[in-house]
Amino acid sequence: MATLADAPALEIARLPHPAPMKADVRETVIADPGFGRVFTDHMVTVDYVEGEDGVGGWHNAVLGPRGPIPLDPAASVLHYAQEIFEGLKAYALADGSMALFRPDQNAKRFNASARRLAMPEIPEELFIEACRQLVLTDADWFPKVEGGSLYIRPFMFATEAFLGVRPAKQYKFVVILSPAGNYFKSGSPAVSVWVSEYTRAAPGGTGAAKCGGNYAASLVPTGEAFAHGHDQVVFLDAEERRWIEELGGMNLFFVFDDGTLLTPPLSGTILPGITRDSLLTLAREEGLTVREERYGIDQWEEDARSGRLLETFACGTAAVVTPVGRVAGREHDFTIGTGGPGQLTGKLKQRLVDIQRGAAEDRHGWVMKIA
Ligand code: PLP
Ligand code: COI
Repeated sequence: MATLADAPALEIARLPHPAPMKADVRETVIADPGFGRVFTDHMVTVDYVEGEDGVGGWHNAVLGPRGPIPLDPAASVLHYAQEIFEGLKAYALADGSMALFRPDQNAKRFNASARRLAMPEIPEELFIEACRQLVLTDADWFPKVEGGSLYIRPFMFATEAFLGVRPAKQYKFVVILSPAGNYFKSGSPAVSVWVSEYTRAAPGGTGAAKCGGNYAASLVPTGEAFAHGHDQVVFLDAEERRWIEELGGMNLFFVFDDGTLLTPPLSGTILPGITRDSLLTLAREEGLTVREERYGIDQWEEDARSGRLLETFACGTAAVVTPVGRVAGREHDFTIGTGGPGQLTGKLKQRLVDIQRGAAEDRHGWVMKIA
């Protein structure tokens, strides 16, 4: 007997948009997109239901007009937060074509998050194909600003109406697109970060998963950072409140005067960033000594003051590579280097951006051309 699992997962049906945004209005809204404020005309949705016999199936893949999604008030995502997401970008290449950057890695991390949240995995090809088709459909939304991209946000949530605490049997996978410019509003050459007394993730928790709950828990500490006049929050480890972990939505790197580059290890409490992984590879190619080691907050201050630490930068899909110029907290206040962008930070950022935009050779097969 055929089950939903046998359905051709890659066939994405198309629903015509009755009223896409008029070109002149669209051009106005994408003229200064910032981050996450503007959305394109279409979205992809795919449903999942666990069969009676325990066989799961993805079905009903549709690329149609973007709009509200009806949800039962008992849908378990609204009660127990079974939700995960990803973030990747489509870039315009120097030759005029479009490309996704390492989408296979986002698909893999999405499924790792799904496993941690007791959710079904989605075929990697379906994840990538949904992103690809959506970007091609809404390619006119590509922002023509310096550093512009189409930010792709795939996510999945539990739709089953059920209040018992167990994994839901029904889910929806959705992909939306957001024209993006700079992540940080300040436009300043380096950001300022606030060391939080709140923690983000404990050993055995969900720190390595990209689930909405982690970000909900970061809002109070991030609000505290903003209230003190800083751009982002730095989280320390939950056990000793000593080891630097990451920012609310970015990984951290440290550059020393002996040419070494250090980043906290993937201990299970931080997100395994794809930008982090790419930069580690590029830094090794540059001949730098790269260390994935724990680094303490007091040491960070001491090294910044002594001049042993030259640079610190944050990295992630949304923020790309962003220099950190100042660090503050209840017990800390120090400047890194001159407080502005450092040399190696700039060099690594340029190497990465050149590959992402097709201006440098893609030796690792990271760039997936889609048109
Ligand atoms: N850390 C956190 C908590 C994040 O939300 C992100 C962003 O996705 C990152 C790190 C960087 O990950 P990536 O480089 O894959 O975007
Ligand atoms: C990203 O860089 O893609 C992120 O998800 C960071 C933040 C917007 C949550």
